[in-house]
Amino acid sequence: MSSFWNWWVIGITVANILACFWLIKWTMKSRPGEAAEGDVTGHVWDGLEELNNPLPRWWLWLFYGTLIFAFAYLALYPGLGNFKGLLGWTQENQWEAEMKAAEAQYGPIFKKFASQDIETLAKDPEALDIGRRLYLNYCALCHGSDAQGAKGFPNLADDAWMYGGTPEQIKASILNGRNGVMPALGAALGGDEGVKAVAAYVASLSGRKVDPALAEKGKEKFAAACAACHMPDGTGNEALGAPNLTDKSWIYGSTMESIEETIRNGRQGKMPAHKDFLGEDKVHLLTAYIYSLSHK
Ligand code: HEC
Ligand code: HEC
Repeated sequence: MSSFWNWWVIGITVANILACFWLIKWTMKSRPGEAAEGDVTGHVWDGLEELNNPLPRWWLWLFYGTLIFAFAYLALYPGLGNFKGLLGWTQENQWEAEMKAAEAQYGPIFKKFASQDIETLAKDPEALDIGRRLYLNYCALCHGSDAQGAKGFPNLADDAWMYGGTPEQIKASILNGRNGVMPALGAALGGDEGVKAVAAYVASLSGRKVDPALAEKGKEKFAAACAACHMPDGTGNEALGAPNLTDKSWIYGSTMESIEETIRNGRQGKMPAHKDFLGEDKVHLLTAYIYSLSHK
């Protein structure tokens, strides 16, 4: 804030509080021509008369109290322009203090679990309970509260994995994030006809009924344009996050339209990294929770 606006804010704030003080003093004064204290002011409604009585003392002191409180508060906390307040309070240091307190309280609990392996934790009700709560806080937004995913967000509760379902692979997905890149291949396949043929072949891989001649045409194109990532048999590659195309699990939907759209325009799924944000110990418990969902 520039120094002009700093003084502007300070001036207005202080003037307002002083004006309140002045206002109460002013209303207490009796003026010529007004009814004397205790007399009827002349306002009468339905037989109710307004008397010119002074404010009760306690009420008045309460009012002064709020004015003094306002000055004390503005001296201690930020509120007057650039003035930081005598206590040095900021939103950040309050947040940091709260995080430190939480760390001191929960840190040892997370530490206790950090030394145990995932398979063991995946059977430990206390660990799973914490893991589930972390999941609902940080992951449910994208993967759903039941972890069954949604279009573009993989199901974490089934046996199909883009990047692998071992404890190490799941943990790596959460810690470092993932960036899946399926290139747009519409043009490379010679436009709509080529896309439709490959899509038919892809659908046939999971046992769907398709036009056999169309799928046969698509098969050749698949070997040339897709097999490098999805493997010649279409079972996918965990190192690239290229999904298995021969199962019934679909990240972007199973309709012919969505398969064709994936091939034509490509897809870029992005799983954010949680290492810096959550830390290793929490991710360890999350991994156990995710692992438990497909290993009952
Ligand atoms: C460079 C590697 C690469 C190539 C080449 C490639 N894909 Fe992919 N494909 C991927 C990746 C990675 C994903 C996952 C995208 C994501 O994570 O968002 C994917 C996703 C898909 C999906 C979505 C699957 C689902 O479950 O929704 C389909 C369908 C697909 N690819 C078909 C093909 C076909 C057909 C070709 C050839 C025309 C092809 N891909 C070529 C890497 C590749
Ligand atoms: C902003 C949305 C978002 C959030 C938040 C998110 N994810 Fe993801 N996650 C994704 C997407 C999208 C993918 C798929 C990445 C791709 O297409 O390559 C993914 C992939 C994954 C995978 C790999 C799945 C596989 O099949 O290999 C795991 C495991 C995972 N997420 C776990 C988590 C956990 C645990 C959390 C909470 C700490 C979380 N995710 C939070 C969007 C999200």
